[in-house]
Amino acid sequence: MISFSRAYQRVIAHWRIFIASLIAVFAIYQLIYPDEFGRFVDMAFLAIFVMLIASQFFWVRRVLDVVERFLPGKRRRIWLAVVAFLIYLFFFIYSYPSIESTNDHVFRAADPRLSSVLIVATFWWWLVASWTGFGLVMVFWTADLATRSAAWVYRKVRQVAAGHLAAPAPGTIALDPPSPARRRFLEQSAVAISAAPFVAAAYGLLYERLDVEITHQHIKLARLPKAFEGFRIAQLSDLHISPFMTADQLRRCVAMTNGAKADLIVMTGDYITWDPEAQADVVEALAGLRAPYGVFGCLGNHEEEGLTEDSITRLFAAHGIGMLREESVPIRMRGETINLMGIDCPRSLSNEEAEARRDLSRRLQRLRVMPDMVNILLSHYPDVFDRAAELGIDLTLAGHTHGGQLSLEFIHRGLSLAHLLSRYDSGWYEKAGSQVYVNRGIGTVGFPIRFGARPEITVLELSRLP
Ligand SMILES: [Fe+2]
Repeated sequence: MISFSRAYQRVIAHWRIFIASLIAVFAIYQLIYPDEFGRFVDMAFLAIFVMLIASQFFWVRRVLDVVERFLPGKRRRIWLAVVAFLIYLFFFIYSYPSIESTNDHVFRAADPRLSSVLIVATFWWWLVASWTGFGLVMVFWTADLATRSAAWVYRKVRQVAAGHLAAPAPGTIALDPPSPARRRFLEQSAVAISAAPFVAAAYGLLYERLDVEITHQHIKLARLPKAFEGFRIAQLSDLHISPFMTADQLRRCVAMTNGAKADLIVMTGDYITWDPEAQADVVEALAGLRAPYGVFGCLGNHEEEGLTEDSITRLFAAHGIGMLREESVPIRMRGETINLMGIDCPRSLSNEEAEARRDLSRRLQRLRVMPDMVNILLSHYPDVFDRAAELGIDLTLAGHTHGGQLSLEFIHRGLSLAHLLSRYDSGWYEKAGSQVYVNRGIGTVGFPIRFGARPEITVLELSRLP
């Protein structure tokens, strides 16, 4: 019989295989029993999680390497490692509520004190930068390995062609070690690549997150009444009031929106983050929005998850802002009309209720899609677009994705975390004569960082198709 300690020794000796097996078992389980998001998203989140854990080991090891080089004395190094670990633990435990989003943790997540904001911000900066940095180092290593492998294959082929191939040991492939000059170049490149995400995350935290952009989008509609030629709609989304998007910062966005002089202002949900107590503050900040044809909105999943749907609707109504909850409102100009509609978010309702509310056809029938009018739908989730297009809704305005918050869409469309949430991740899409615009939003959820996904106020200008 194998003793427990021997079995334990074996597990430790083969811990990499053990952990890889655990991950594989979990992945297989998720593939067999996918959750509501589907297999692709499950696997993507698992990959992100595994990379996150691996990145922490990787960077801690790198930090210890540096410490070992500059700090003499083993004892001192051990003490430093212990202190560093305790600081790491403190940052993690303190900031945990900003990862865990249940209502039990809203107090800490919404703590506006400067010390709290600094701790949570530093934690997220480290986590996002170490994760992306690790990803880049992996890509770099893979590219280096591929290059060396290709060079090895090339040399062997040439040797075979020359007729003097030395027989390799069975089952072994020994790549040549890099030369000293190449090794130096690789080390310098690795340092530069590793540092870049830490600089980029700091930029995204301190600057881009607050660098609100007004984007302009022309929307051509075949059935647009003449009176609405040039009609301008300003769209705000995902305000997410929090210590990282304060009421004052929101008032700045309100001033920018009013300055755009739109005819109509719409908002596509997520006014609060996790804290229901913040609803009065966000409504008060947004109450300053002004447009000749009114201010309307729909609710987001955060209102629904924070159980604030009814209360925030009443607060908005008291300031003359209409939340369109499975209802529509006519926008009239010089005897002509367009139909503005809004729907709620269905995610965390009980199954039966959610099913009924997900039945977009039934819901939109209740809304009365007008066959002889331009219909504009406000929906927090962009995924309703497929059904909206089938029903002949001319234009859907959505949010929810935040443009991924981390995005490389300036390199290629779709290279964004938002792609995990929706295939309509940000910007304009068209399908069967119907259009959707997905706004990147103003605030943040989770990590208070935006990179490649500036906060956005959209001004959509309507015109008739010639
Ligand atoms: Fe959101």
